[in-house]
Amino acid sequence: MEKVYIETYGCQMNFADSEVVGSILREAGYTLCTDLQEADFVLVNTCAIRDNAEQRVRHRVRELRALQNRCHKLRIGILGCMAERLQSRLMEEEENVSFVCGPDTYRRLPQLLAQVRQGQRAAEVELSTTETYADIEPVRLASNGISAYISIMRGCQNYCAYCVVPYTRGRERSRDPETIVREAQTLFDKGYREVTLLGQNVNSYSWQTQDGACDFPELMRRVALIDPALRVRFATSHPKDLSDKLLEVMAAHPNICRCIHLPVQSGSDRMLKLMNRKYTVEWYLGRVDAIRRYLPDCSITTDVIAGFSTETLDDHRATLDLFRRVRYDYAYMFKYSLREGTYAWRHLADDIPDDEKTRRLNEIIALQGEIALENNRLEVGREYEVLVEGESHRSKERLFGRNSQNKVLVFDREPASGISPAVPGTYRRVKVTSCTAATLLGELVQ
Ligand code: 5AD
Ligand code: SF4
Repeated sequence: MEKVYIETYGCQMNFADSEVVGSILREAGYTLCTDLQEADFVLVNTCAIRDNAEQRVRHRVRELRALQNRCHKLRIGILGCMAERLQSRLMEEEENVSFVCGPDTYRRLPQLLAQVRQGQRAAEVELSTTETYADIEPVRLASNGISAYISIMRGCQNYCAYCVVPYTRGRERSRDPETIVREAQTLFDKGYREVTLLGQNVNSYSWQTQDGACDFPELMRRVALIDPALRVRFATSHPKDLSDKLLEVMAAHPNICRCIHLPVQSGSDRMLKLMNRKYTVEWYLGRVDAIRRYLPDCSITTDVIAGFSTETLDDHRATLDLFRRVRYDYAYMFKYSLREGTYAWRHLADDIPDDEKTRRLNEIIALQGEIALENNRLEVGREYEVLVEGESHRSKERLFGRNSQNKVLVFDREPASGISPAVPGTYRRVKVTSCTAATLLGELVQ
């Protein structure tokens, strides 16, 4: 039996896809291994969202060459967004790569690997309008047995001007809700206590049957009804489609987590228009108000891009102002990276010098750091229900878990006398006693 080692870069969707790939290959008779030295094939699931993500993969592929020189059997395949974007060009440029396989052709991996075993090199990069891998039960790779991702849709056709995803992941399509609910139920039955429903824009999830339609709020409701002890999260929401109906469903189900990731990208209307985001700052703030009205204890997180085409200092200041108004609990902050094939690549200049992009990015990072710390200070003294996940990365004496808002709480493994110790995979009440910008420190309470 040949052994396959899977390595994943990029977003949560890629991690979910690697689990589908693992399942397909196991079904085809391959063994999945966790030691690269033993592998016959290494599959690198890649991200193309920014140039630095691609450079990291290129670097890794060259590093793997050294291993191949020592062990001649090892063959390398590139999966995911970079495979789709570069296709066979990638094999020309990286001569130690044996095959590339895009995100919609993973079912063909067994044939691809067979071809490679016969000494051929091959590329499978066709995009599909229907593939959702709905019937495949993913193997859980590197799982803690407590939380898992469930992919509910694939692709994106919002065509934000800067973004390569519509070209690497194809048209948007939703997965049959019954298969989603079944997957969540199976996970719950196996002891999992948290599922995250994934899509590029979950708010446009839509499934039609003879009995009617299932939209995202309805899907969330069905998953939430599996059991009150199953936490349900989701990512990502495009602000233009965040509906009151979803907020109502969230309010009605306490096990749907109080955390909404709402990528804003910029605080300037001119930038938002140029980015083709299809909302204004006013609309966005209206959605934030709605979240706070329906779910007063909900955390809000975001993505932002510094230094997009023609961004002026006023545009940049507008982003800082928006951060001060919303007071995000967490933000993923990026420098604009020009991507081949996008609208911006065809029509807009990448005209902000790199050091100026860095300066603006650092300003946003510093501001967000202050806000996160101030937000966390307000948490001191509060009590939360925490899903215990495991040992703290810093200390064996401590455990960590998350609250519904997705904030990490760290607490002593051995609680004060009279209080039972915490067990991973269970819920416990934790009182916040102090904090940093990234973490809440606390103690178990009964
Ligand atoms: N440059 C920088 N950041 C980008 N993102 C998407 N495309 C680019 C790009 N070309 C960011 C957006 C998106 C997140 C997943 O990555 O903020 O929400
Ligand atoms: Fe990219 Fe925009 Fe689609 Fe998100 S919504 S994946 S940023 S095109």
